[in-house]
Amino acid sequence: MALVPLLSRWVGGTEFKNLPNLRIVANCAVGYNNVDVVAAEMRKVIVTNTPGVLTEATADLTWALILATARRVIEGVDLVRSGQWTGWHPEQLLGLELRGRTLGLFGAGRIGQAVGRRALPFGLRILYAARTAKPDFERETGATRVDATRLLAESDIVSLHVPSTPETKGIINGETLARMKPGAILINTSRGDLIREEALATALELGQLGAAGLDVYTDEPAIHPRLLAAPRTVLLPHIGSATEQTRRKMAAIALANVQAVLSGKPPLTPVYS
Ligand code: NAP
Ligand code: GLV
Repeated sequence: MALVPLLSRWVGGTEFKNLPNLRIVANCAVGYNNVDVVAAEMRKVIVTNTPGVLTEATADLTWALILATARRVIEGVDLVRSGQWTGWHPEQLLGLELRGRTLGLFGAGRIGQAVGRRALPFGLRILYAARTAKPDFERETGATRVDATRLLAESDIVSLHVPSTPETKGIINGETLARMKPGAILINTSRGDLIREEALATALELGQLGAAGLDVYTDEPAIHPRLLAAPRTVLLPHIGSATEQTRRKMAAIALANVQAVLSGKPPLTPVYS
């Protein structure tokens, strides 16, 4: 028996107990924080994910958020639609010029690096924080590996690309937000629970942070009311991988994993060995 959950579906002890013939949980996402992997391993249930095929789509969407926040695109759209626009003004909706600024990648795996590569033509300096050095990425982009404290202190844009784990949950909180540059932009296309949303709302309300571009939230599909009301936010409904081609490839990998395991072969993309 196989389960192919969406990322919004928690798979844990109840499923493993009630489905004794379960052989594989083929998560239809690269993130698998919705699966109790420890419980799965104990029950000898294989867990797989969909790495790689959604990297470029998610990096593109991350850039959509970077550009939309830096250049105040949604505020501009709202102004036009409101009928209140009175014409070109030299000080209207002034944003952040990207060239010469610093992009800080918190996590530099597949998606983090793809976001970094896209920064080159925009003339951004790249910093990254990761557990292991990425020499090829450094050679290709001139990126510099730094610790999290320096990343937060020096980046004009901080973009989160670590998975949600016990170590990364809440890494962006009141204390770390206070270490960011005044007016910096925070982007999150990874998982909502990396950020303490109350603290983020406060930083935006106080103008301590310049803007936030979010695709993911702690309690999806609910969005914290203070984030909904906060200024300078671009809020998307978890559409990082949402292109037709990518979604087809994600489904194909999940299916291939199920077929392999149910026919006694090793899975293609297991999350643990
Ligand atoms: P990945 O290739 O595994 O990259 C994650 C990176 O984070 C790895 O390089 C990893 O290890 C690093 N890392 C893990 N824990 C860390 C820590 N405590 N401190 C610093 N770095 C740490 O995964 P990916 O394919 O890029 O995906 C990243 C995440 O994006 C997924 O887990 C998922 O949550 C999210 N995602 C969201 C969407 C969306 O629709 N918005 C779409 C796809 C993925 P090293 O530092 O050792 O390299
Ligand atoms: C989407 O969020 C994924 O992890 O694939």
